[in-house]
Amino acid sequence: MAEKGSPLAGGAKHYPHTRMQRPANALAGKPCGSPSPRTATFARFEFLESMPMTSRRLVLQHSAALLGTSALGLMLPPGALAQSGKVRIGFMLPYTGTYAQLGVAIENGFRMAIAEQGGKLGGREIEWFKVDDESEPAKGVENASKLVQRDKVDVLVGTVHSGVQMGIQKVARDSGVLTLLPNAGVLAATRALCAPNVFRASYTNSQPTLALGKAMVERGHKKAVWISWKYAAGDEALEGFKESYTKAGGTIVKELGLPFPNVEFQALLTEIAAIKPDAVACFFAGGGAVKFIKDYAAAGLKDKIPLYGSGFLTEGILEAAGPTANGIITTMHYADSLDTPRNKQFRLEYAKRFRMQPDVYAVQGYDAGQLLLKGANAVQGNLGRKSELYKAMEGATIDSPRGRWTMSRAHNPVQDFYLRVVENGENKVIGVAAKGLSDSGAGCRMG
Ligand code: PHB
Repeated sequence: MAEKGSPLAGGAKHYPHTRMQRPANALAGKPCGSPSPRTATFARFEFLESMPMTSRRLVLQHSAALLGTSALGLMLPPGALAQSGKVRIGFMLPYTGTYAQLGVAIENGFRMAIAEQGGKLGGREIEWFKVDDESEPAKGVENASKLVQRDKVDVLVGTVHSGVQMGIQKVARDSGVLTLLPNAGVLAATRALCAPNVFRASYTNSQPTLALGKAMVERGHKKAVWISWKYAAGDEALEGFKESYTKAGGTIVKELGLPFPNVEFQALLTEIAAIKPDAVACFFAGGGAVKFIKDYAAAGLKDKIPLYGSGFLTEGILEAAGPTANGIITTMHYADSLDTPRNKQFRLEYAKRFRMQPDVYAVQGYDAGQLLLKGANAVQGNLGRKSELYKAMEGATIDSPRGRWTMSRAHNPVQDFYLRVVENGENKVIGVAAKGLSDSGAGCRMG
């Protein structure tokens, strides 16, 4: 039996509204100190964004009802509810753990894109659902299935962590539900496991670092140590770095790693100090990035060995990292300081709505929303007209705060990458590291 208040009970259309939980450990690198402005303003976010939706708490409370609903779900193909009434959109994002802030920024950006266009999709109202994926790969399939099978979403928006994305990818391919990737860069999603219903609005893991190697060699750093979390995002970022750095004449003298989301960097920093490379390049993000930047400085390396990275290292964490982040050079498809009317307008509007500054994650969420709007408008909200919907999304040019971008054949953005340096709490653009960079899409066969 479906529980009272569930979408399947007595014609009730949605779960009763429950507030999103504040991510208590949003900056998992707790030793870094005080909560970030992003978490501090969370209560205001809840107030501004109060809408009907599922929450992780609710998912747990209702777990007893899951068996019944999923059994019923088997009888109704995903998308069966799609063309009547509201469009059902499900966020599968991290709302707890080291990537919690990233999930919030993505959701904010996505909602803002829709709100700016009148809050509807192709004329249809929207019903929102959400699941906290906890950046936990082992629960990826289960969590995506909750949105697709139980909540019958028409569109799945997720996620941040590449390992979790692989679970989403399986569910997306099996169900055919339109799936928008607002961050996770795992290569397979737009290479060997690409799918007509899966579109990425962010980047592949190797794209930012493909733009990094040359910039480092040009600055005279010919011997580098690489350090990152050991999972797809770090491993694939290394792949891009290896290619660009060695091609430019650099040598990676050591590859260091630790499991995600471990932040015990001390032993590895001691090793770096002993090696004395010309520079260090890395992949870290979110709360772990703050901890890494602070530990790097505390180990006495900041003024001795220049620190580089894919731009996630310095996204959304600059207030928390403070002056220790000054001087870090990164490559990314966005920068706070991009001096364009589009970016300025976006930043102003985002700050007004959410009382916090946007970052690359907010931009990616925003662009995922813009991409969906392009598709939905082309089919007047009838998301069942799949070939027209996909065609419109494939052909879209997204007028993004990051600059205009288009979709590759494998459904990954073709975009510019900027060279940035941290100065006084801002990622300042100092050049274009790669123009119109596309992922290879190797092994992708649509259809
Ligand atoms: C990923 O797991 O793909 C990932 C996570 C956080 C980032 C970038 C990539 O900032």
